[in-house]
Amino acid sequence: MHARALADDFDLEHLTPEFYANPYPTYRALRESEPVKRMRNGSYFLTRYDDLVTAYKNTRAYSSDKKKEFAPKYGETLLYEHHTTSLVFNDPPAHTRVRRLIMGALSPRAIAEMEGDLVRLVDTLLDRIATKEKFELIEDFAAAIPVEVIGNLLDVPHDEREPLRDWSLAILGALEPVVSPEVAARGNKAVKDFLAYLETLVARRRATPGDPARDVLTRLIQGEENGERLTEKELLHNCIFLLNAGHETTTNLIGNGLVALDDHPIEKQRLIGDPTLIKTAVEEMLRFESSNQLGNRMIVEQMELGGIPMPAGTPVTLCIGAANRDPAQFSDPERFDVGRTPNRHLAFATGAHQCAGMALARLEGAVAIARFLARFPKYARAGEPIRGGRVRFRGFLSIPCTTEG
Ligand code: HEM
Repeated sequence: MHARALADDFDLEHLTPEFYANPYPTYRALRESEPVKRMRNGSYFLTRYDDLVTAYKNTRAYSSDKKKEFAPKYGETLLYEHHTTSLVFNDPPAHTRVRRLIMGALSPRAIAEMEGDLVRLVDTLLDRIATKEKFELIEDFAAAIPVEVIGNLLDVPHDEREPLRDWSLAILGALEPVVSPEVAARGNKAVKDFLAYLETLVARRRATPGDPARDVLTRLIQGEENGERLTEKELLHNCIFLLNAGHETTTNLIGNGLVALDDHPIEKQRLIGDPTLIKTAVEEMLRFESSNQLGNRMIVEQMELGGIPMPAGTPVTLCIGAANRDPAQFSDPERFDVGRTPNRHLAFATGAHQCAGMALARLEGAVAIARFLARFPKYARAGEPIRGGRVRFRGFLSIPCTTEG
């Protein structure tokens, strides 16, 4: 389709199978011809790198508080309570308090200490894959890693981790631009079950606290030394958010990254030949196929954007997937280059809400992908992968593979 038509026809509420398979021609068309695009519901869709940075950095004019937007979307439901209590959908000071507590447990030292367990986990998964002729890249590998890592972070007993992934998929699925009654019902049930589970976990942890330097849950329960504590509701919903935030996104970093390498054999060989490129390669995977493609903000101070007046109360969607391929910021942006530097991508956003788990996600991505490649350099897809079919969280549900090409 002609670029102009792609931009004209773009409607976040009616997306085509071609768009889900490859949204980048549409994003490019929008960036080039209508970088501040009005949607039918009165919101605006932003695709330029500089516009996203401005929005992320100006928390006063671009609010993350979603109470107004989510009230009609979810009604008086647990999904509403959950999303509006999560730190990511709040402004300071509620945001700052929770963020400080979480960040304390995600210090560089705490993360470095996780590496040994992570390597052991990844190697166990690779050993299991080695016994099979065919394997499932998402289920047998990419999805199996974050659930354990985040489980360890909150010290969830191993035999209680199984439902976490489905709860998380159901709750995040309800953040899509269009939510059917079934998706909403599944999301609400997941919040209900998740809360019930966490209530028991928190009660146990209150009775027997863990090490606050390592265990985020103990840290959130005990609060800051200056006496700052979370309410019970804040505590439970932010634990749910933390468990969710690190799941699907990291699974998709690993899945999207290994698919991108398979699609770009020269880059794959380059990385195999020089494993020291793993850090820049992971950054490029994050840029090229960002697992979180959209962010949202509400304009709360009247302004002008791209020559268009924006009154307070205008919702904007920040398209990370488009900004990460903006030629004004990245040279040859459609090229997948495992050695790309500089690479100031926005996969983790920027500013006050920049991903609190990015150091952990980077470590997981690097360990998982480097060790997978070293073990199975000839891996190849063995069937059509199935996409998640979501616009916000980009990734695959299933990627059938073989280890020997
Ligand atoms: C590849 C993996 C990941 C990606 C692409 C990703 C992406 C993002 C993005 C774009 C945001 C900003 C949202 C916004 O304000 O609009 C965010 C926030 C957040 N992420 Fe991640 N994330 C990843 C992994 C993780 C992990 C592993 C954790 C937890 C251990 C985590 C925890 C958080 C938290 C707590 C926030 C909220 C920060 C705040 O509002 O101050 N994320 N993430």
